[in-house]
Amino acid sequence: MATIAPERPVCRSEPSAHEALKKHFAEHPEQRLVHTHKWDVSRSDIYADNTWHPIFREMREAGPLHYIPESPFGPYWAVVGHKAIQHIEALPETFSSSWEYGGITILNRLSEEEIASSGFDRRELPMFIAMDRPQHTGQRRTVAPKFTPSGMAVMEGEIRQRTGELLDSLPRGKVFDWVDTVSIELTTGMLALLFGFPWEDRRLLTFWSDWSGDTELATVRELDEMRWGFLHEMGAYFQSLWVERTHDKEPGDDLISMMLHSEAMNQMRPEEFMGNLVLLIVGGNDTTRNSMSGIIYQLDKNPDQRKLFEQKPELIPNAVQEILRMQTPLAHMRRTCTEDTEVFGQQIKQGDKVVLWYLSANRDEEVFENPDKLDITRENARRHIAFGYGIHRCVGARLAELQLRVLLEELHKRRMRVHVAGDIERVRANFVHGFRKLEVEITEF
Ligand code: HEM
Repeated sequence: MATIAPERPVCRSEPSAHEALKKHFAEHPEQRLVHTHKWDVSRSDIYADNTWHPIFREMREAGPLHYIPESPFGPYWAVVGHKAIQHIEALPETFSSSWEYGGITILNRLSEEEIASSGFDRRELPMFIAMDRPQHTGQRRTVAPKFTPSGMAVMEGEIRQRTGELLDSLPRGKVFDWVDTVSIELTTGMLALLFGFPWEDRRLLTFWSDWSGDTELATVRELDEMRWGFLHEMGAYFQSLWVERTHDKEPGDDLISMMLHSEAMNQMRPEEFMGNLVLLIVGGNDTTRNSMSGIIYQLDKNPDQRKLFEQKPELIPNAVQEILRMQTPLAHMRRTCTEDTEVFGQQIKQGDKVVLWYLSANRDEEVFENPDKLDITRENARRHIAFGYGIHRCVGARLAELQLRVLLEELHKRRMRVHVAGDIERVRANFVHGFRKLEVEITEF
């Protein structure tokens, strides 16, 4: 029997998750979270106001990990040292990523009672980022071949062309928002290319995966419900693409076709397939976008380094790594301890929540000299852990690096100098670390 593709949702101009949350807060200011512990770095105001540096510095000076007994997300270990994070990520059996234990962010999984009372269908979307071995290994293998160096070489031409066209269309002598005009547009275009996603609907990808919403909700449930709604809609759209691609006689080389025609697909449940698609979109979106904004912000704040970049374009690959270190687009990942264990002299108990603060590790004085300074010649810039470490290290890292390198190369080719020339608005969240707005103006060098 032939399968009929479900109808695709149409591209709308509804508010993003962020806008909806902003409205929610305006109506319920009493619902903002209360943080009492001086080292509770789950508070999102320190990221919105860019005041997190001294807090993490003080914590690193006192040791690589600390128990925070009270927070709106429950008690947790804050791991702030570079070596300690690598140590923990190298022990994935002891420090689980599994959704069963609570997943990969500081937010907790909802209890069965909360799920039952939420009043809507909330079947899980399993994703391999929130799985342990052996399931993780098999599912990661279905997508990893797309991100090999040869896979990247195939995509580079198109990415370069789109980047160039966009840069050529930017206004001169006028202030505009780099986030919306460039970072979002290029990232969304890259994802559309990766998935063979209908070009005219590409902004849906941004709309669905705007997870950078405020994490200051008193009831974590509202945030979770909202995300769940977006995920369902995204799932329905991709289901329609999936059904279409199943009928293709010749499998294409986009990621959906690749996954569909992979061997491991036979063992994957439809919801796992969908969950992994969602993971790739969400994983590649805010992260790449905020690195692109980070490039502009960091070069503007460090005119000596901007000059160096302009004089020595051969430094671009290292500059990409250094900017990733400085920006660190995901502030943390979370693990749950599966057995009592000791880490750097601290006793961690089975069931403890362990939060790995990449943002702090990438400023660790033990690894990076003068860590708060952008230095595009830094010899060990590559040691940053903005992409994580170990078996879950970002599968899309090469694609992200390619995008950022091409952006810098194309800016250089056009002798474009981008100045911060207006408002800077940062994301108010403890997970996604980046910019909501970055007003700029272009001149030449
Ligand atoms: C995993 C960061 C771009 C897809 C991760 C992790 C981090 C990260 C921190 C978790 C690593 C860990 O737990 O050790 C970033 C940053 C990016 C970026 C900073 C851009 C600058 C992308 C792109 C894609 C992607 C472009 C795909 C289109 C994924 C996936 C995982 C992942 C699928 C799960 C890997 C696994 O569990 O094995 N990323 N990412 N990411 N990322 Fe990225």
